[in-house]
Amino acid sequence: MKTAVVYFSLGGSTRSYARAEADARQAALFEVRPAQKYNPITAFVRGCPAARAQKSVPLIGPLPNLSEYDRVVLMAPVWAGFPAPPFNSMVELLPRGTTVEILLVSSSGDSSACADKVREQIQNAGCTLAAQRDIRVMRR
Ligand SMILES: Cc1cc2nc3c(=O)[nH]c(=O)nc-3n(C[C@H](O)[C@H](O)[C@H](O)COP(=O)(O)O)c2cc1C
Repeated sequence: MKTAVVYFSLGGSTRSYARAEADARQAALFEVRPAQKYNPITAFVRGCPAARAQKSVPLIGPLPNLSEYDRVVLMAPVWAGFPAPPFNSMVELLPRGTTVEILLVSSSGDSSACADKVREQIQNAGCTLAAQRDIRVMRR
């Protein structure tokens, strides 16, 4: 089975987990980057409202061609209870019919408040959600 792990990370923790996930599954790894970069302040001011509204943001290319994969694992940090906006941009990259897993990284390890909306978002994209998991970030 051909698997891709696609992720966004601001502070680096989702990147570490995404690398480990891709290693463990022998998957291709793709990082997406928003055209308008975030810093910790704009993440709160601009990113959190967009996250709650499940809005996407333009990404910098080249973008992965996800039609080559049987399964796509999407990974992103939780901002204000929802996946950070580049997650929504990743969902827009999914070809209809893709089998998707979602791994959300957060300090609480609890994204249950957005779980139903995210599941609906994947279904609306014409995809099948095979798994939805939380990762509680380890502080060093
Ligand atoms: C703008 C912002 C909002 C956040 N909101 C939440 C939240 O609602 N719940 C939570 O558990 N963690 C929240 N966090 C913590 C991040 O989800 C956590 O630090 C995550 O590991 C960051 O991933 P990254 O290092 O890959 O960017 C927030 C962090 C930021 C920067």
